[in-house]
This record gives sequence, structure tokens and C-alpha cells, in this order.
Amino acid sequence: MPLMQWNDKLSTGVATVDADHKKLVAMVNELYDGVVAGHGKDVVGKVLDGLISYTAEHFAREERYFAQSNYPDAVAHKKEHADLVKQVLDVQAKYKAGATSSLSLEVMNFLKSWLVKHIQGSDKKFGPHLVQHGIK
Ligand SMILES: [Fe+2]
Ligand SMILES: [Fe+2]
Repeated sequence: MPLMQWNDKLSTGVATVDADHKKLVAMVNELYDGVVAGHGKDVVGKVLDGLISYTAEHFAREERYFAQSNYPDAVAHKKEHADLVKQVLDVQAKYKAGATSSLSLEVMNFLKSWLVKHIQGSDKKFGPHLVQHGIK
């Protein structure tokens, strides 16, 4: 059973953003599978690194769209991205310093709620604005 499942409640209506989010959900699931399968710190750590770099790419994409469309909530949304990056880098540093299985589960739950909360709470708000500005 995957940790997370994509559903329509997560859809922003912007196809490229939704595709990124689906990929992030898949990466969180891949990370979870690695943890459940008991894969070593190196393997799990690499998946975590990949997730973090894809997250950075994804945030940059959203922020480009904000600039292109003069999104009025861009400042607050970008602040949320910066805070999330800080948190996830913190998790990564802790993981690298002493990965135990309990930290891994904590990491999984953190990533899952982080993704769902940000998408549903903030990303969904920009959907109509971006679509109106021709961003797909
Ligand atoms: Fe997003
Ligand atoms: Fe976002």
C-alpha cells in the first residue's frame, strides 16, 4: 500500500503543476517503500536527496508562474516555500546525522502532511488565477 494516493482534491487545475505534484507524491511513496523494505541509509538518503531537488525545481516553476501572471499572493506563497525548504533540509540533516527507523517514519509523516497541506491550503488558491493567465 502506498503511503499517499493522488486524488482530485489535490488538483490545482494547472496541468504542469499537477504533474509535478503527482511526481512528488510518487517520490514520497518511493521513499516510504524504501523505508518499509528496510533499505539502508545510503539508498533512502539518495531518494530523499532526489525528492528535495525535485521540490526545489517545482517551487521554482510555481514562482516563475507567479511572476508571469503577477500573482497577488506571491510574496506569502514564496515565504511558505522558503520555510518548507528550510524544514526539509533540517530533516535531511538530522537523517544524515543519525538515521534510525523512527526518524524515517517521522520523516514520512512530515513529508506527507507537508505536501498535502501546502497543496490544498495554498497551491489550490493560485489555480484559477494561473489558468486565467493562460498558464497550463
Ligand atoms: Fe506545489
Ligand atoms: Fe506552492
